[in-house]
Amino acid sequence: MLNSGKTIAALADRPDLPRADTPQAAIDRIESDLADFRTRHRLDQVAVINVASTEPAAEPRPEHASLAGLRIALGRADAGLLPVSSLYAYAALDLRLPYVNFTPSTGAGLPALKELAVWHQVPMAGSDGKTGETLVKTALAPMFADRNLKLLSWVGHNILGNRDGLVLSDPRNKASKVHTKDQVITRIVGYPLQTHTSIEYIESLDDLKTAWDHIHFQGFLGVRMTLQFTWQGCDSALAAPLVVDLARLVLLSQRRGEAGVLKHLACFFKSPMGSEEHDFFRQYALLEEYVRQSR
Ligand SMILES: NC(=O)c1ccc[n+]([C@@H]2O[C@H](COP(=O)([O-])OP(=O)(O)OC[C@H]3O[C@@H](n4cnc5c(N)ncnc54)[C@H](O)[C@@H]3O)[C@@H](O)[C@H]2O)c1
Repeated sequence: MLNSGKTIAALADRPDLPRADTPQAAIDRIESDLADFRTRHRLDQVAVINVASTEPAAEPRPEHASLAGLRIALGRADAGLLPVSSLYAYAALDLRLPYVNFTPSTGAGLPALKELAVWHQVPMAGSDGKTGETLVKTALAPMFADRNLKLLSWVGHNILGNRDGLVLSDPRNKASKVHTKDQVITRIVGYPLQTHTSIEYIESLDDLKTAWDHIHFQGFLGVRMTLQFTWQGCDSALAAPLVVDLARLVLLSQRRGEAGVLKHLACFFKSPMGSEEHDFFRQYALLEEYVRQSR
């Protein structure tokens, strides 16, 4: 797998597949697979949703800044040019297929790829599905803000199993996820506070995920109080309906002629593209407004 990081590359179970020499050759192969999938299943519309393992954060490169610059670089034997999630995103957008990034990986998050989406008039959305602890955090934080209860610190410890947990046990891959989970509280309340998010792989948990959160806050006359919660979720059962809804919503957008980042889908993501809004209820209001207008 071209530029997916050491831990994900070690999972590859198809050594028989030929290696792409350039990013363009990898994109061409993904495009041909997608086109073949569409023909084989006789589909009118196809959406591409990234649910692959979380990559390490991509190294910023000057070639990412514009579509013209990236296109020139794609033909060079430069395996580090784009992370694998961006190769898939490029292929999807180039085929004019709506694209959703359900992971914290880079995907279509580079300026050159956003340009490609607008150029081809393709809708896209991301990043990182908001299914568990972060969903609860972004529903609770507005309550503290609206009741003028000042948050002092927010600590969240997460344990999870399955392959997602295994990949996230690599500190480089974990850093991408911690970043998207950790930023939301400060963004909602608008002032700095001490936050800490940890993620540990516990093999026996399989698809179950537990989060323990400790929230320290201050009320009237500076009285200090604590809220703690335990969230025990089944990863797949939480994610699957969101993935289905996202596919339906981006395909609807395509039929309606919408293109570029779909801001009304912010409530689905920990790190919504094109939006600084993290408050779950305000995000949901954007979706409701969109649905009202679409009718
Ligand atoms: N509740 C959730 O499940 C949830 C919520 C938010 C985000 N996510 C993100 O969604 C992704 C999938 O989660 P999961 O629990 O299904 O993980 P998983 O490990 O069970 O599945 C990921 C799959 O992607 C495959 N893969 C990795 N790199 C690939 C590549 N370059 N090309 C093709 N396949 C590749 C892996 O082999 C694996 O089968 C992860 O990035 C995770 O962080 C999941």
